[in-house]
Amino acid sequence: MNKADVISRVLGDKHKILPRNPTGKAFAPSNIALCKYWGKRNQELNLPVTSSLSISLGNKGTDTDIAICSDGFDHVIVNDQIIQPDSTFGKRLQHFLDLFRAAPDLFFKINVKTNIPIGAGLASSASGFASLVQSLNALFGWELSANQLSILSRLGSGSAARSIWQGFVEWHVGLHANGMDSHGESIATQWPEVCVGLVIVSDTEKKISSREAMQRTVATSPLYAAWPAKVAADLVLLKQAIQQQDFALLGKTAEWNALAMHATMLSAWPAVTYALPETVVMMEKIWRLRAEGLPVYFTQDAGPNLKLLFLGKDVGDIKKYFPQVEIIKPFYPLQRT
Ligand code: PMV
Repeated sequence: MNKADVISRVLGDKHKILPRNPTGKAFAPSNIALCKYWGKRNQELNLPVTSSLSISLGNKGTDTDIAICSDGFDHVIVNDQIIQPDSTFGKRLQHFLDLFRAAPDLFFKINVKTNIPIGAGLASSASGFASLVQSLNALFGWELSANQLSILSRLGSGSAARSIWQGFVEWHVGLHANGMDSHGESIATQWPEVCVGLVIVSDTEKKISSREAMQRTVATSPLYAAWPAKVAADLVLLKQAIQQQDFALLGKTAEWNALAMHATMLSAWPAVTYALPETVVMMEKIWRLRAEGLPVYFTQDAGPNLKLLFLGKDVGDIKKYFPQVEIIKPFYPLQRT
């Protein structure tokens, strides 16, 4: 089964219909995994080895505007910059769009605006593909369910399966080889006190893609065998923390999970590390502040930047100790500018 088969299955009769509307637009938030997705059981369909759990970032994410065009090629603009069709990103997008061309001469004009650094481990591809799929849904008038949108977004980037919802989201590993049961699900609990802080150590593009790093880790790391059991235990703890609003449990579980994921990468060959010296200095600072009584934790993805986890009551201290931090309150009503 390949991506095109999954799309036919999800869209059914709608697969070959031409767009019902001249344009479509959608926003999707970025998400930060508290229990990470690391390793694929199917490279083509981005099917994960384990489930994962994330928190979406409110108004931080990607807006996509899409329109039909008949110029014989797609136009893609990201943050006012034209994307060259032969660039790595241009090609990746092209392949994804090819899956949705209802006629050979159907091309798209896509205008993407994202308010998070691209490619620096801040989940820009997750919000990018989730907003692209939702804008296609609006353009074609498919009227897909959230689960179906999650499945199609996953085909672009695994973690995009979680960016269809705000708040806490679990992405179910699924049992089926076709991945029809591997999609996100919103966890209804609201927890307005929880804050996420973005501390940008570097916003340059990552040296190695998460796809390649995952593959290398699964293939060579002797520690990877322990990863699924760690995830299973952490998912239970995170759900308990969310249900009981136990912040110390949430923070500890998320931080430990991220460190365990990076340990699997460090033990791959050749080793993969996304940390820069500044990343490690910041970890030490967080551990010191915590020892002094400030409940702040971190998580790290496929990049050098750390995301802080803390409560609203500590915003003053967080700003004092991390003057460059950008604070996100995932559960506050979205303020779109
Ligand atoms: O969806 P991808 O291929 O960008 O991989 C995401 C990997 C991590 O961000 C490290 C973990 C996660 O669950 O988001």
